[in-house]
Amino acid sequence: MSLRLCSLAIAATLVCQVVLSGGTAAEPKGYRPGASGLGDPYFPSLGNDGYDARHYDLSLSYNPGTSALEGVATISAKATQNLSSFSLDLRGLHVSKVRVNGRTASFRRGDAKIFITPRHGIPNKTRFTVEVRYDGVPQPLGGPIVDDSKYGWLKTDDGVFTTGEPNATSTWMPCNDYPTDKATFDFRIKVPKGLTAISNGRLAGSREANGQVTYTWRGHRPMATYLATVTIGKFSTRSGRTPRGVPLYIAYDQNLPAGQLDFYKITSAATDYWTQLFGPYPFEETGAVVDSVPGVSYALETQTKPSYAVPVRHEHTIAHEIAHQWFGNSVTVRQWKDIWLNEGFATYAQWLWADRTGTKPVEKAFREVYEGAPPEFWDIVVGDPQRDTMFADAVYRRGAMTLHVLRKEIGDRPFFALLKAWAQEHRYENGDTRQLIALAEKISGRQLDGLFRTWLFTKGRPPLGS
Ligand code: ARG
Ligand code: ZN
Repeated sequence: MSLRLCSLAIAATLVCQVVLSGGTAAEPKGYRPGASGLGDPYFPSLGNDGYDARHYDLSLSYNPGTSALEGVATISAKATQNLSSFSLDLRGLHVSKVRVNGRTASFRRGDAKIFITPRHGIPNKTRFTVEVRYDGVPQPLGGPIVDDSKYGWLKTDDGVFTTGEPNATSTWMPCNDYPTDKATFDFRIKVPKGLTAISNGRLAGSREANGQVTYTWRGHRPMATYLATVTIGKFSTRSGRTPRGVPLYIAYDQNLPAGQLDFYKITSAATDYWTQLFGPYPFEETGAVVDSVPGVSYALETQTKPSYAVPVRHEHTIAHEIAHQWFGNSVTVRQWKDIWLNEGFATYAQWLWADRTGTKPVEKAFREVYEGAPPEFWDIVVGDPQRDTMFADAVYRRGAMTLHVLRKEIGDRPFFALLKAWAQEHRYENGDTRQLIALAEKISGRQLDGLFRTWLFTKGRPPLGS
């Protein structure tokens, strides 16, 4: 190679590097990209470490004829480092424009991310806003995580039903899709007249223009992204208050037969009963969205308004989803491997509900699982169930059994004090198994690591001690 060609190649490389690193604006020293992926053992690439999302303002418009979603997400965030670039989770969908602090920012799409480089670095601890304009047809996720059911943005005959847990909210809105980054949410959802749009928080109003209705929902308590929901369809709605005064909103698919379950009555009773047992209801409203969703028969504890895909036939499912408002939604897992803190608690609440209504004593529920569960049940390590089996039956029922064994070990008073203290101490935040064990030991004055090691971290059916 001649000397001249060689120096040309070097020059080209240099130009390339300048362009790739985000244009001509010189980056102040000490700025770096927010790490993409928070390193969750099950979902390592979710989230970004360079900022804290504070508020999401979503304007969505949905066309059921074409299934197309158009959105403008305005996200208020605070930098947690000197930030040269950062990412948002967004899977699929077309992004047409990104602005940071009102100015056009360059961006690049990754597999399930938008990598955004603002014109100027964002200094640590300063607030900034990101506006993302996007559109497309959101695609649901599937696979073993939820028994091969689909989850995410699910089409129904008259609209949409959404289930984000654990990683699907980013299939329909850009976000920092990880449970440790809670934020408040406003949703404005525009749909053709005749359809209702329901979301988290409280309905702030609806406005009609040109055959379209825009529903505004506000959730002003911290919420993890996986609990965000948008349901669209033909619904009958009913609102009121529970006897203890918590606002209540129920939406029921107009095409469904009335059914035997009175969602209004049971949701109201469960909200009040758990308030008595677990402490103040954490959110501004309680409720239910009951929809018919082809191929789906589970429920999800979407914040303030659990989503039920019919057929859900048992009132204990309502008791379960409402208990999640404390355990899961207000106190949220720090990593997905702690999922038993959600499901074990909500299942134990289900057992408490059946006991209270005289259907089945908790001890009997415990015995039935202890004696009747199939051998594979005992192979799941509840305290770290692995990604593809994170919703395995054992996470729910052996998780609940762990709480029952704990209750028998420390006694009723300390046990119910623990439930309240857990809800109180981690209210609107996150908690992990180690912290729960520490709190249980503190409240009971007992050493409990052996009990938890046996029930949460050891394969096989534990012997029943004393
Ligand atoms: N957390 C839900 C419940 O126990 C499980 C829902 C499973 N589906 C899902 N899309 N994650 O009520
Ligand atoms: Zn659950």
